[in-house]
Amino acid sequence: MGQNMQVMRLTGPAEKPTLIEEEAPQPRPGRGELLIRVVAAGVTPTELKWYPTTHRKTGDKRTDAIPSHEFSGIIAAVGEEVADVKIGSEIYGMNDWFAHGALAEYCVTQPASVATKPARLTHIEAASVPIGALTAWQGLFDHAKLQAGERVLVHGGSGGVGLFAVQLARKQGAHVIATASAHNLEFVSGLGAEQVIDYQAARFEERVRDIDVVFDTVGGETLERSWAVLKPNGRMVTIAADAEGNTDGRVKQAFFIVEPNRKELIEIGKLLDAGQLQTIVDAVVPFSQAPAAFTGAVQGRLGRGKLVVTLAAAGSAIGIG
Ligand SMILES: NC(=O)c1ccc[n+]([C@@H]2O[C@H](COP(=O)([O-])OP(=O)(O)OC[C@H]3O[C@@H](n4cnc5c(N)ncnc54)[C@H](OP(=O)(O)O)[C@@H]3O)[C@@H](O)[C@H]2O)c1
Repeated sequence: MGQNMQVMRLTGPAEKPTLIEEEAPQPRPGRGELLIRVVAAGVTPTELKWYPTTHRKTGDKRTDAIPSHEFSGIIAAVGEEVADVKIGSEIYGMNDWFAHGALAEYCVTQPASVATKPARLTHIEAASVPIGALTAWQGLFDHAKLQAGERVLVHGGSGGVGLFAVQLARKQGAHVIATASAHNLEFVSGLGAEQVIDYQAARFEERVRDIDVVFDTVGGETLERSWAVLKPNGRMVTIAADAEGNTDGRVKQAFFIVEPNRKELIEIGKLLDAGQLQTIVDAVVPFSQAPAAFTGAVQGRLGRGKLVVTLAAAGSAIGIG
């Protein structure tokens, strides 16, 4: 008989899901898969409402998902036909949105979705990176094809994705403008934004124009008002949850969903190890309190960056920082 593990699983109706801790069978890696012992998992609260959380690939309703699809941990086992992977290696990465996530002692992923954990980072820090950094990288470089010297506007420059978008755009040699709250203006400037607009105190469209690339992490009215600041051939990229399913052709073209990408994780890891990119952990939450990370009821937050859940048993066993 296989072993059991602790997981946080969604329960209740899709409109009002709750997370409960329960015991579940430890998964086994299938052909071409890795079993990861999760040390820390990043939290994207809006994930609970995303399509793959509430539906299966077949389109059927899903009510038993385990959330959090970014993690840092240790390779615990490998499936058949997995080559060049060492059990015990420390990795960070993502897994498929339709698979069970990393709010569990173990999760399953593919070698193409993970890379060696940046050595300079603790597991907690590394777990805060994959979704934010990959989304920023893919939005700026794969979708918008940002070039040196271009002007980019990042909405939500202090958020889990925005803080990477500001840094990566600046590193690319772009002129970076960002929006943030008053308490985050200095922080976002420190990441490399030449101009930071307090979106509660001013309307950004009255402060900026002739933008080559808008990177929108906010959506709604912010996205609508952003078309006016683009140059005639400017590019819009949006990742905001409420843009998914929008029927406006322009928004459909601008929206994308981040994908796991080993090559990009390796490049991002090099920048983190070289100190040329930084991550920010908003607060650390023990596994037993993970549901609070999804409702915003976490004490002692920095108010920027990403919430990270630690898997206590795995963490204490290897002395995470
Ligand atoms: N499509 C994808 O692949 C993908 C991937 C990851 C995330 N997402 C989605 O992207 C969105 C952002 O994710 P995240 O993890 O970066 O969230 P987050 O960490 O909560 O950051 C969002 C930030 O936006 C700022 N903000 C709020 N209202 C704003 C406004 N009107 N104008 C400018 N900034 C505003 C806030 O910063 P201040 O405190 O400074 O106000 C907040 O920290 C979410 O909807 C998430 O679901 C999508």
